[in-house]
Amino acid sequence: MTQDQTAPRGPDLTQGIALSDLADSRLVGHVGNEEVLVVRSGSELFAIGAHCSHYHGPLVEGIVTGGTVRCPWHHACFDLRSGEALRPPALSPIDCWNVERRGDQIFVKEKREQPKRRPPRDASHATGRIVIVGGGAAGFAAAEILRRRGFRGDVAILSNDSAPPVDRPNLSKDYLAGSAPQDWLPLRPDEFYRDNGIALHLATEVTRIDIKAREVIVAGGKNFPFDRLLLATGAEPARLPIPGADQPHVYTLRSLADCQAIINTAKHAARAVVIGASFIGLEVAAALRGRNIEVHVAAPEERPMERVLGPQMGDFIRTLHEEHGVVFHLRDTVTAIDGRRAILKTGGTIDADLVVLGVGVRPRLALAEQAGLIIDHGIAVDAFLETSVRGIYAAGDIARWPDPHSRERIRVEHWVVAERQGQIAAENMLGLNVRFDAVPFFWSQHYDVPINYVGHAEQWDEIAIEGDIKSRDCLLRYKRKGQVMAVASIFRDAENLRAELAMEQTQ
Ligand SMILES: Cc1cc2nc3c(=O)[nH]c(=O)nc-3n(C[C@H](O)[C@H](O)[C@H](O)COP(=O)(O)OP(=O)(O)OC[C@H]3O[C@@H](n4cnc5c(N)ncnc54)[C@H](O)[C@@H]3O)c2cc1C
Ligand code: FES
Repeated sequence: MTQDQTAPRGPDLTQGIALSDLADSRLVGHVGNEEVLVVRSGSELFAIGAHCSHYHGPLVEGIVTGGTVRCPWHHACFDLRSGEALRPPALSPIDCWNVERRGDQIFVKEKREQPKRRPPRDASHATGRIVIVGGGAAGFAAAEILRRRGFRGDVAILSNDSAPPVDRPNLSKDYLAGSAPQDWLPLRPDEFYRDNGIALHLATEVTRIDIKAREVIVAGGKNFPFDRLLLATGAEPARLPIPGADQPHVYTLRSLADCQAIINTAKHAARAVVIGASFIGLEVAAALRGRNIEVHVAAPEERPMERVLGPQMGDFIRTLHEEHGVVFHLRDTVTAIDGRRAILKTGGTIDADLVVLGVGVRPRLALAEQAGLIIDHGIAVDAFLETSVRGIYAAGDIARWPDPHSRERIRVEHWVVAERQGQIAAENMLGLNVRFDAVPFFWSQHYDVPINYVGHAEQWDEIAIEGDIKSRDCLLRYKRKGQVMAVASIFRDAENLRAELAMEQTQ
């Protein structure tokens, strides 16, 4: 994201500030045109870029813990000493400055060189060929961390998408709404792959894994031998078996190409029907309202998102969308799309130039099934994300792992989880032996309202609400037998981070 063009905030840190100015042990000032966050942690002082390298979140509003700072918006985590992005969704480091203390004064000095030291989990000794199937969140994060950890062997990403890895969450938000340019989307520019020796094979469909020969076979017959393999094939949107759903103006949304096709139709559309009140369905509804298109949402449930967020939040989300002009047809569904007419089960019809299906996704398991890996509502992996076959790992939307917090095997469809799993699987492919124990996190954005959710609660027996949902200032704890399984919040980002920390500490 672009740097804020307005004048930098706060005092000139090169001129010195009093130690006592560090309210809550932190302060934002500037060095030249750059905003810098000064942090006091115990007896140590740090100066680090004030904005997250993901979407520019204000780190001063995050939390500081164990020599790190966590971003309030989507829970990225940075090392205060080196600026390294320790946890996605941030993948790039932020700058650090030297700090000098003279008596009760603190002076921020020159910017530090990015450290050339050995990576913290050095794997420069590891050799061999690593093949990654999938160029999405998990696949990209895996390739990136392999090189960050110093791996010098071969790395290949095989993706059936014709676009390089992109910021998929943006496809239902700012980019779809027309408020983000396309150059925000690639996770890295093309030269990154060349410069880092990552062979990115786009438009390459993997059709089979030959476990005995240790190779994957792609359409057209070419073989890619591997020593270690990561499956990161993600999920595909479900389609509805209703008449007319195969027409050209009926879309699902997963890839950049899907998004561009929706945008092209939206440019000439007056009215859209979104089928399904899922996260993606409702984000699409919000984005299309941003393009001034009349939007109808048809879904069988009583309240949007009730299954994940509960009735109170469901009612709020419905009202929020209605305030922005969305028309809901709940406890209803589209039974056929006859030309431009979407026919509702309850008898009505809606004329629509554009129909988007947001009726859930299915993990892409075909390759794993064919290869004989153990499948259990997803590819079964252990705490190290290894599948039932040694040397073959799985990460992201396809992986079902033993979650130490809920003590259940779970599979989720969250961007940050996919990236973090991609990284951990990659580290384990290098022999680093790291457990995946991150607390799941996702966010969703509806107009100017962000919802942050940490933990995992498929069921709960109590929702404890702090604050006021309608005023958009709330924190909801989903409890089972008294234990907090998950926390959702609106504009209580630091508390959401603290809830994540508490869940980590009780594992
Ligand atoms: C529009 C949209 C918005 C979203 N917004 C959010 C959000 O706000 N917050 C959030 O937490 N999550 C969000 N998600 C979910 C999140 O994007 C996914 O959980 C995440 O992308 C999963 O990562 P993955 O690597 O498992 O799969 P993906 O990112 O889907 O990547 C899978 C890759 O595998 C490739 N592939 C599949 N099969 C083959 C094959 N046979 N051969 C070769 N390549 C193959 C695909 O082309 C793709 O490149 C959103 C998803 C969508 C679609
Ligand atoms: S802006 Fe910091 S994690 Fe997204």
